[in-house]
Amino acid sequence: MRVFVAGASGAIGTRLVPQLIDQGHEVLGTFRSPGHGERVRALGAEPVALDLLDASAVRKAVFATEPEAIVHQATALANVRFSRNLDRTFALTNRLRTEGTDILLAAAREAGVRRFVAQSFASLRYAREGGPVKSEDDPLDPTPVASARETNAAMRYLDEAVTGAGGIALRYGGFYGAPDDGLLQPVRKRQFPLIGDAGGVWSFIHLDDAAAATVLALEHHGAGIYNIVDDEPAPVREWLPVLAKALGARPPRHVPRWLGRLIGGEGAVMAATESRGASNAKARKELGWTLRYPSWRQGFTAAYSRPMQVKARA
Ligand SMILES: NC(=O)c1ccc[n+]([C@@H]2O[C@H](COP(=O)([O-])OP(=O)(O)OC[C@H]3O[C@@H](n4cnc5c(N)ncnc54)[C@H](OP(=O)(O)O)[C@@H]3O)[C@@H](O)[C@H]2O)c1
Repeated sequence: MRVFVAGASGAIGTRLVPQLIDQGHEVLGTFRSPGHGERVRALGAEPVALDLLDASAVRKAVFATEPEAIVHQATALANVRFSRNLDRTFALTNRLRTEGTDILLAAAREAGVRRFVAQSFASLRYAREGGPVKSEDDPLDPTPVASARETNAAMRYLDEAVTGAGGIALRYGGFYGAPDDGLLQPVRKRQFPLIGDAGGVWSFIHLDDAAAATVLALEHHGAGIYNIVDDEPAPVREWLPVLAKALGARPPRHVPRWLGRLIGGEGAVMAATESRGASNAKARKELGWTLRYPSWRQGFTAAYSRPMQVKARA
């Protein structure tokens, strides 16, 4: 297939492009930042400079490249400063998930592109009630914390727009497996504490496994939402010390909820104490997906304890 990957130069795009090519697909890979075209070319794809929020440029690019499938992996999270206000941090990403998705879907429809797969997110989104691990059929959080309302709404919008158009939304877990993963610096500097009982459950996914699931989703027929997460959703109090150890960092500090709220805001307290994890049973069954890193327990060590094995982006 000719596959148009929007966001080919990013964390997941750079893992996805080589896997698509290995499977015999031809890849048109978009980038946004000057200089990232060479990164895309080096991966074996044809680079296409594109701003996803420019509807006429997107239409032109899709018509010019005549893809059979489109993958939307565009976010704007490189070099963002995480603040207490997640909606501010995610503002451009939220536009890429709403306006950008609409623009790509419209171009796909007009150009007769039948397959569409887009990036969504699983962790921190499910309703904070009932059991610790949620399936795709479980309700999303109806009352996200105030500072992340727009971000949650944008992800919900993407899920609905993509599946409504017959495509697949992949709710990835927290990405890891690259030398510049966002969690690494704060954990190394002991700036990521255990808040309260640290019983909030997170789901992770190694970037290579996320890319493998994406290739399978592209070859899958029918609309749907899939949690693309590993086999072991776990409370923060379990995974954070393991991550710190894999990085050779000192163990995380403990802080009470009130102090966690003061330092990180309501969103940080929610994520640390109330969030729910996600199940990958549907993706395993329907996509035939198997994981190279079934748990972050081995994955963190493989990714971070032996730097020679970590793939850096060119
Ligand atoms: N599930 C998760 O946990 C998750 C999800 C997403 C990101 N992240 C993390 O966030 C960090 C940054 O992610 P990233 O490296 O992928 O960078 P990013 O800045 O989020 O960029 C992702 C892709 O989108 C492209 N892009 C950005 N703005 C665009 C626009 N207006 N139009 C079209 N394309 C646009 C980028 O192009 P250029 O590279 O050319 O700028 C890149 O190809 C990484 O550590 C990553 O793991 C985590």
